[in-house]
Parts: sequence; structure tokens; C-alpha cells
Amino acid sequence: MTRECKVTFEPSGRSVFVLEGTILLEAAARAGQIIETPCGGAGKCGKCMVRVTSGACDSCDEEHTVLGADRIRRGYRLACRCRVKRDLVVEIPETSLFQSSQKILATDAGGHLDVRPAVRKQCVRVTPPTREDVRSDSERLNEALGGGLRIGIHALQALPLALRQHDFTVTAARVGDHVIDVEPGDTTGRCYGLAFDIGSTTLVGTLINLCDGRELGVVSRVNPQTAFGDDVVSRIRRCRDEADGLERLHMAIRDAVNDMIDDLAKRAGIATDDIWEAVLAGNSTMQEILCNIHPFALGEIPFVPVFRERVRMRASDLGLRIHPAGEVSVFPQIGGFVGGDTVAGIIATRLNDMREGPVLLVDVGTNGEIVLAHEGRMVATSVAAGPAFEGARIINGMRATTGAIEKVVIDGDVEMNVIGNAKPAGICGTGLIDAVAYLLRRGIVDETGRILGPDELPAGLPDALLRRLVARNDQYDFLLAGPDETGTNEAVYLHQRDIRELQLANAAIRAGIMILLRHAGVEASALHAILLAGGFGNFIRRNNARRIGMLPPIDTARIRFVGNTSSLGAKRALLAADEWTRAEQVVRETRHVDLSLDPEFQEEFSMAMMFPGPEVES
Ligand code: FES
Repeated sequence: MTRECKVTFEPSGRSVFVLEGTILLEAAARAGQIIETPCGGAGKCGKCMVRVTSGACDSCDEEHTVLGADRIRRGYRLACRCRVKRDLVVEIPETSLFQSSQKILATDAGGHLDVRPAVRKQCVRVTPPTREDVRSDSERLNEALGGGLRIGIHALQALPLALRQHDFTVTAARVGDHVIDVEPGDTTGRCYGLAFDIGSTTLVGTLINLCDGRELGVVSRVNPQTAFGDDVVSRIRRCRDEADGLERLHMAIRDAVNDMIDDLAKRAGIATDDIWEAVLAGNSTMQEILCNIHPFALGEIPFVPVFRERVRMRASDLGLRIHPAGEVSVFPQIGGFVGGDTVAGIIATRLNDMREGPVLLVDVGTNGEIVLAHEGRMVATSVAAGPAFEGARIINGMRATTGAIEKVVIDGDVEMNVIGNAKPAGICGTGLIDAVAYLLRRGIVDETGRILGPDELPAGLPDALLRRLVARNDQYDFLLAGPDETGTNEAVYLHQRDIRELQLANAAIRAGIMILLRHAGVEASALHAILLAGGFGNFIRRNNARRIGMLPPIDTARIRFVGNTSSLGAKRALLAADEWTRAEQVVRETRHVDLSLDPEFQEEFSMAMMFPGPEVES
């Protein structure tokens, strides 16, 4: 029986339990630490370097070549090569973290983080009025700030008191030439911002200090709109069919975002009134409902969004619990269901600047988005993958939280890793992909996705596996964990029906990829890289995703994880306002491919419902 090892990552202090033999790169991803892999984990670039500070790891030839004997002696290893054999403490240098490349891009020549948010604070001493100088308060403020500014209503309302409360020293909060508010005294050190990824299933919010770009906290939670339907189409239907549908869905998402803001502010020990900016990125449906805009046009042919440009408003317009005059921006959208999260993903990865060869960005989620960049042009599409990857519509499925089987290895018997080192309670998306990939390899599932009966199975399978097949209504299910092994005392199965759900999700992604490749005239084998994005994408085992046919059969070294790019793109736009120009350019330059209008989609989808044969293994 393979044992589990505890791996703690520093300086974040995050720990995970993983199966013995797991590569460090995967353990780090499981702990939410996305490590750079420019060479795709081939052990060539050295960018994934980490240091083992407690416990020990064997070193391999590639590590000696890339790192040198001295570093190896000091505990340095390549996260893409090093396998966990015992409990470890591992230090991840800042430069090895994927997010650090975001910081490097926002760093000036002197190595300082160059933070240029839309909201800027400026402290000034205003000349007090006299009998000889009876200009208005706003004229005086304007002069002190350099002149030529518009003083907004919030600022005018606060101005007389703020000026006289602190001996005519005030701090003005500005967005461009617009003064959005003033505060008494010098408050320039208190300026925070928020970046949100509004996913169909999961919401992620990050609090950032806008003075120095430091991240102060991250929270995530389930999108409460899942109670109204687990995909965007069912939510659009609720908005259309129920008189108060839009209001209820809008309030649900707005309240969840506000709860997350309260939570982030409380944990960081700051006042929500000191949060001056929020940037939100989501797919078209999520963004429109968030803005309280009716999404019905997205539910009817030809599926048009209400806006393509960046939407800007004051926080009070949306009812967000940050400073009421704070700047709120929602990402521009490409078209159809390809929304702001895709634009954010493109600016996070700089996909539009990649010239080495065709590169595919695949964000695997309930609403899957795919972008192909080739010869300076981009084509994008979205696919309704459904929530199977999030563990929904799977009989013993669950989200990737404590108790979820997140990794399955099937050899002589079944080995599994459970999140939180707990007893299993169900299976999440990555475990599902692993289980099906291994069952295909062992010949227990055939290419049509059917779990074979004992008479049809290849010879020589171990009894331990044969005993796991359970006949039910003319078909078979596969037992992953018996009732005595689980935390719920209920067995966890991979049901025949679950494999069908996975095939649907899988086929949607694969067919979307194939159509985009065809539109661009690119062969799958010519792909320079596939960038796997999304909270879920980080945890997928690349060879297993390839085995089930979700990704084209290219060398796994060319498949790279890029983390939650929607969240990263939102952070980028929060930290540097000029990213909005880039985002709008991306919208102009990306061609939207609507799969529902593509005559070849159905055929591609049907073909992709079949799992590939063993030839995809390499
Ligand atoms: Fe390049 Fe590890 S050496 S990713």
C-alpha cells in the first residue's frame, strides 16, 4: 500500500498530504502554489527550482546538470523532477512562483514593484480662505492638486468638513482627472484594492495593498447561484422565466462578493472604506448578472452579449461594500459566452504576444474557454463542459475539498489520495479523470466508455481489481472505496453513468479545441504549447488528461499549468491601469467562433465522445 507523505511549503506555510512518489510540482499545485514550468517539466530550464529544508529527496541526472553539485548539496531540487518519498518541508523561492512573473512584469528597472492602479491618492495642504480670498473650497482643492480636475459629488459632500477637520490638509482620491472623494489628513498609506474571479461554480477574491502591490489575503467560496442551476444556460433560463429571476441571481452573487470583502478586510485588519477599487472578471453570463444586466440575449440565437467594452462604475452603483465612491471595473468581453475571464486570461499569460508557434490556452471549468494564438492572431470559443469536472452530476462526486479523492492510481489495486488526509467521502474532477484514464489503461473500460463485464476483460487482471466490479442493472460500476474505508460509511463508486458525464465534458473541450485548430489551419501536432488554466486545470495530471482525450496527444512537456488566469488577469488590471488598453485591444483582435453555428461541431463532438486508443500514451 502506498503511504501518504506530508509536504509543507514555505514561506506560505501551506501543507498537503500526497501519495508517496508524487512529483513536487504536483504537490505544490495541490497546495495552491503554482510553480513556473517554462520547459513543461522536462528538467531543462531550472525555473522550477525549490529547496528541500527538511526531509530528503533523491536527486536525478537532470538536476545535477541544471543545478550543479553545490546546489544539490544545499538541498536545491527541480520541482518537476523530484519525487516525494517522505515528509518534507520545501522552500519555494519567489522567482519560482508563477505569480512572480506577474510581479516581474510590473517591476521597474530598479527592481521595485511598479504599481499604477486606476485610483491614486494625493495628500495636499489647501490654502485656507481669507477676507481677501473667497474662492470656493473646490477651487482651492483643484489648485492644490495641480488644477484641471473634476471634483465629483462624493468629494464635494465631504470637502467642507474634511478641510476644516485637519487644518486644511486633505487626501484626495483620484481616478485620472476625476476626484472621487476627499478625506481629512494624510491617508495615502491606506489604499487597497480587490481582484475577483467570478466563476460559474467558484468565486475567488484577492485583497491587495495598492501602495506597494502586496497581496494581503485570498478567499474563495462556492458561487451561490449554483442553487439556481449548475451551468450558465440554466441560470439564463431562470432570469428569463421568473419575474424576479434576475434580481435573485444578481443579489445572490452581489451578497456573496460582499461577504468575501468583509471576510478579507476583517482578516487583514483594515476598514472596507479603505478599499478604493475592485476589478471583476467572469464569463459573459456571470458578468452581466453581476452588473444586474439581463442576460436573455445570451440565451437566444445568435447569443450576443450586452456589452463588449470595459464597464466602469462607482461601488455604490453596484452596492459593493467598499468605499462608496470606489472605482469598480468589469472586464470587456469577446463575444457570445467568451467573456471577461478569457480576456483576463489572455492578458495574464500575454498570449497575444507569443510568437514561438501556435499556443492554446484552455481554461477547464463548467464553462470551458479555449483560445488559440497563431501568427499574431487569436481565435476563441467557449464550450458548455458542464460541472462534471467540479464533481457535480457525478453520483459520488464532490468539490475538491476535504474528503475528496483527488488522485487515483490503479495498478495491482487502487491507490488514492484524499484531500485533507481524511477518509474519502466522494470523488472530485481530477480523481475522476485519473480513475477513467487508469481503467482505460488496464482495459477495464473500453473506448466507448463502457465498464466491461468479467467475461470481456483482458486476461491476467489481478483479483483485487476484479473484485471491485459490481453488476447493477445490466452494467458494471467500479468500487473505489468500501463503506469501511470511507468517512461516511457509504461506498464510493465510479458508476457507469459518471463515465458518460465525463465523456460529455471531455468531448466538449476536445471538440472545441479541434474546431479552433481547424479555423486556424493548424495541426494539433504543431502546437508549441498548451496552457492549462483554471482552479481545476492546475491539478489535472497531464498524461491522464491526454489519455482520456481531453487534450491532443502532444508531448506532456508542452502542456503547462498557468494557474487561475482569470484571477491573475484581474490582479494585473488592478495593479496597472494601462492593462485596460491591452484588454480592449485583445477584444478587438480576437475572433469569436460560435460553435453552435459551426456545421462541423456535432461531428467533432461525436468523435470526441470516444476515448482514444492506447497509442496516445508516451
Ligand atoms: Fe523546467 Fe522543471 S526544469 S520546469
